[in-house]
Amino acid sequence: MKNNDKGSVHFEGVVKKYGEVTALKKLDLTIEPGKLVTLLGPSGCGKTTTLRLIARLESATSGRIFIGGRDVTHLSATYRAVSMVFQSYALFPHMSVLENVAYGLTVKSLPKKIAHEKAEHGLELVGLGGFGARLPSELSGGQQQRVAVARAIVLEPEVLLLDEPLSNLDAKLRRLVREEIRQIQQELGLTAVYVTHDQEEAMAVSDHIIVMQNAEIAQQGTPRDLYEMPNSCFIADFIGDANLIDCEVRSANDEQSNIVVSSRPLSVACKAKNTGPSKLVVRPHDISLSPPNGAQDFTGSVSYAAYLGNKIQYTVAGELGELFVVCDVTKDPFAPGDDVSIRFDLSAARIVTEETGSP
Ligand SMILES: Nc1ncnc2c1ncn2[C@@H]1O[C@H](COP(=O)(O)OP(=O)(O)OP(=O)(O)O)[C@@H](O)[C@H]1O
Ligand SMILES: [Mg+2]
Repeated sequence: MKNNDKGSVHFEGVVKKYGEVTALKKLDLTIEPGKLVTLLGPSGCGKTTTLRLIARLESATSGRIFIGGRDVTHLSATYRAVSMVFQSYALFPHMSVLENVAYGLTVKSLPKKIAHEKAEHGLELVGLGGFGARLPSELSGGQQQRVAVARAIVLEPEVLLLDEPLSNLDAKLRRLVREEIRQIQQELGLTAVYVTHDQEEAMAVSDHIIVMQNAEIAQQGTPRDLYEMPNSCFIADFIGDANLIDCEVRSANDEQSNIVVSSRPLSVACKAKNTGPSKLVVRPHDISLSPPNGAQDFTGSVSYAAYLGNKIQYTVAGELGELFVVCDVTKDPFAPGDDVSIRFDLSAARIVTEETGSP
């Protein structure tokens, strides 16, 4: 094992079947040490299965798994330096908070005094110093989740696994706790694999995101790569809001594509994979609306308007189908029924073909 492999995770052709169900189709993935990598994807795509394979709570049907450069495919959970934070917290209700955090250390036969000192330190790390004597039931949901994080990190795992750790928290707490988890992960230089189906949460905490769909990887990259360079309609729609507008690609080179949208020729500064029917991806804030101006713009009429304080969201129906548009608040907002001219900022637009998955 090389020293700089500590904390890395590597899957080589890993297949997982539960009877007839294929939960993972030949998965190859690499998680770099010290990074927070998120597995993101719709329900049933295989995220929890991947985590459980890393923790050896499940065994692979075929393929090999490496942790820290070492082949651990056939090693039991006890010999893998990983700890897992579950969605349900899974705290022992009859034990104090301190005992809960110290539990894993005492199981490892650490003297009680040292285990308690480490647990106290773990609680301080998650902002719960002084809460050790309470019972879990005497804490809020967010505090209980932080106890679960403390319990996992005091074991000093090579890899920290988190399965939808925030799903029981309300929106404000989710943000607070996700920031804390990210901060602790960075401070301790931990490798963390984080599972969520919330794309905003994934973008906010991750160094790298692996988007899964139907038991395989659909695309992976930094949050920015995925948002700016989606390789399929699925990714474009899943990572951030997107309008997927029918278009016909007439010609394309590496820098530019000539397309036709609703009988109008447009030139887009990006590469299209193929000529023929495709989708133009336009983000809601890259569409501007103006009163009908008789120019070459597309046309539609506002079917829904929602004032959100710092912005206005519109749904606009027209020749391009239904568009989702986000605008700055203006003195004279549009109202449902208003006719509008529609213009795109195409500098950030992308073209994707309709099939899913990478080429
Ligand atoms: N113990 C099991 N026995 C049979 N099938 C299972 C088992 N566990 C998971 N599966 C199936 O494997 C597939 C992947 O499940 P997994 O739990 O990994 O999904 P997930 O991406 O975590 O979904 P969610 O977002 O709903 O938690 C699903 O089709 C699921 O029904
Ligand atoms: Mg799951």
